[in-house]
Amino acid sequence: MKEPPGFLAACRRQPVRCTPIWIMRQAGRYLPEYRAIRSRIPFLDLCKDPALAAEVTLQPVRLLGVDAAILFSDILIPLEAMGVRLRFTPAPLLENPVRDRKEIEALRIPDPVGDLSFVLDTIRILRRELGGTPLIGFCGAPFTLACYLTEGKGSRDFATVKKMMFSEPELFRALMEKLTAMSIAYLRAQIEAGVQAVQIFDTWAGILAPADYGEFVLPHLRALIRGLDRGATPVILFIKGVGGLLELIRDCGADVLALDWMVSLERARRLLGTEIAVQGNLDPALLLTPKPRIEAAVQRILEENGGRPGHIFNLGHGILPATPVDHVRFLVETVHRLSAAEIAWPLTKGKE
Ligand code: CP3
Repeated sequence: MKEPPGFLAACRRQPVRCTPIWIMRQAGRYLPEYRAIRSRIPFLDLCKDPALAAEVTLQPVRLLGVDAAILFSDILIPLEAMGVRLRFTPAPLLENPVRDRKEIEALRIPDPVGDLSFVLDTIRILRRELGGTPLIGFCGAPFTLACYLTEGKGSRDFATVKKMMFSEPELFRALMEKLTAMSIAYLRAQIEAGVQAVQIFDTWAGILAPADYGEFVLPHLRALIRGLDRGATPVILFIKGVGGLLELIRDCGADVLALDWMVSLERARRLLGTEIAVQGNLDPALLLTPKPRIEAAVQRILEENGGRPGHIFNLGHGILPATPVDHVRFLVETVHRLSAAEIAWPLTKGKE
């Protein structure tokens, strides 16, 4: 589709001509082209139709000029293959939540090739269609999947999983180990099918005290990343509310840490050191505001990064459905323009 934009180079902390950008939930309801397809087909059916899932994955690449594509699917899709009855309204609903030993033991570990072949077929179509634009695969992290599995739906505090974690740690561990094994097989299959980077969404891990995160969750995340046997494929980790976990997370094995907007890029960089790249971290609400506001916010984030290699621009969480598409296009263009000027400046200066 276009020449390599530097997304993979930035994941590896190599120098780039300008800061690459992609957007969490870049295929979605804010795009009229997505809504047109969704008006004809339910969300789950769309995820399971490789030709259509590939088409909606490509929409933001064509319409916005982002520097990476992310596979169109959902983190809860493999739970269906584990035996969970899943509905989207569009918020997810799990009809048979998993709360005791019998229910955990009944969860099966899917064979991605047999049970999730539609995901792998979508990846193969996309690699043909995308040309030089890299494709990101993904999964939910074990803790975030456990949040939905135990609660059966979204929640503000996910008290069910916390209660299990604190009062029945053996049971919680059995659940986490099963989800880790599933995720390793699932991401390995995605990499085999052609994704060039993977993002692990641990969206809800930020609701834990750092000590509890370190004791109950981090060991499983490390095991997941170690188990990928991924060669050069970069791993990106996203946690909403990661600011309190930075020191714990820096050695988890991920190549890139995705940051939300509640932590400054400058502080995160200072605490993380130079061995890990960062992604982020614009507040999605800023895309609802006039262009000069958006431009100023981009400038501030680039300044906070201070020209360090290994920065991928993104939002700090998913794009809001009310976002004007024109503002997203402006964001992509502004990140490229301002970062190119900033990066070129020291290079030119050095030659004088
Ligand atoms: O463009 C992309 O980012 C790729 C596709 C993608 C979706 N969900 C599509 C989707 C990805 C990477 C996800 C991840 C996901 N899903 C997460 C982790 C990231 C995050 O946002 O925190 C979580 C927690 C979920 C679970 C989920 N799926 C929720 C809570 C919802 C409903 C509310 C919402 O945010 O839209 C979904 C449904 C969903 N997943 C939609 C899309 C495009 C909307 C469905 C529709 O079209 O009606």
